[in-house]
Amino acid sequence: MKIVITRRIPQAGMDILIEAVGKDSLVHHDSDLPLTREALLAMLPGAKAVLSTLSEKMDGEAMDAAGGGLQVIANMAVGYDNIDCKAAAARNIVATNTPGVLTEATADLAWALILGAARRTGESERFLRAGNWKGWAPLQYLGASIHGKTLGIYGMGRIGCAVARRACGFEMPVLYCDAQHADLETEKALNARWVDKDTLVRESDILTLHCPLTDETRHAFTLAEFKKMKKEAVIVNTSRGPVIKEEDLHQALRDGLIFAAGLDVYELEPTIYKPILELENVLMLPHLGSATVETRATMARMAAENIVAVLNGRQAPNPIQ
Ligand code: DGY
Repeated sequence: MKIVITRRIPQAGMDILIEAVGKDSLVHHDSDLPLTREALLAMLPGAKAVLSTLSEKMDGEAMDAAGGGLQVIANMAVGYDNIDCKAAAARNIVATNTPGVLTEATADLAWALILGAARRTGESERFLRAGNWKGWAPLQYLGASIHGKTLGIYGMGRIGCAVARRACGFEMPVLYCDAQHADLETEKALNARWVDKDTLVRESDILTLHCPLTDETRHAFTLAEFKKMKKEAVIVNTSRGPVIKEEDLHQALRDGLIFAAGLDVYELEPTIYKPILELENVLMLPHLGSATVETRATMARMAAENIVAVLNGRQAPNPIQ
């Protein structure tokens, strides 16, 4: 019984796997650095299960590298754009993810970026740390007010709704765009109204993205959208990098088409589109949406439990539908 674990994960997940199959059955890339493609393919032969992260591309080639006995790919993430689900289904491999448990942590981080980008916390902290502060000044680092402004949410799933719940404290009307309409009760509780994408882009003061990465959402935000946005608007992305065309975002921020951006995710992670690093009006974090001690431990536990269930012939608790 060989189980491949592609990255160092919280011990809570390791403990479940060790108890289920014994330490000797685990082939572990016990590192914080992502595997190269070659190293991943070399680890897979004979694997019955893979605990993967969003950095490993689990496509047909990777599945076949396991050699036919692979039963389950358990992603330690809610997003699963790294897994070719059709290829998995064609090979009778169960693919699972970790929904729900990272909703609140990710919504919190979206708010950290909303507040930080609007109030210019990154650039003003750099200024202070560089020893440049000469004292309080009426026109120093003026940001965008948040209270009462219109919050736009692209993708009103679990995380989008959690972001909207937090907006109630800021007395913000919420516009949202999603293939599905929320029910009336939810809309009322969240002070939220469904709008089409064009209206969302034009009317939001803060626009925050919470959609999965699909063929439809890839490059959903390009120069065309930034040109329609308010000049005072702030855009925040904690979903997946390719939802925004980074080159176009750079142009929009540089040319003042929008006020600021807060980013947790990037088109070609961990590579960042270099020119964007030179801009002051973008607050950037290294994909930390779910990065709390509690959340990551729960995610690791869930991924391990999905593996154990499938290897024992049971239904996975969190199959990707
Ligand atoms: C996810 O789960 O999809 C996040 O991006 C990483 O936690």
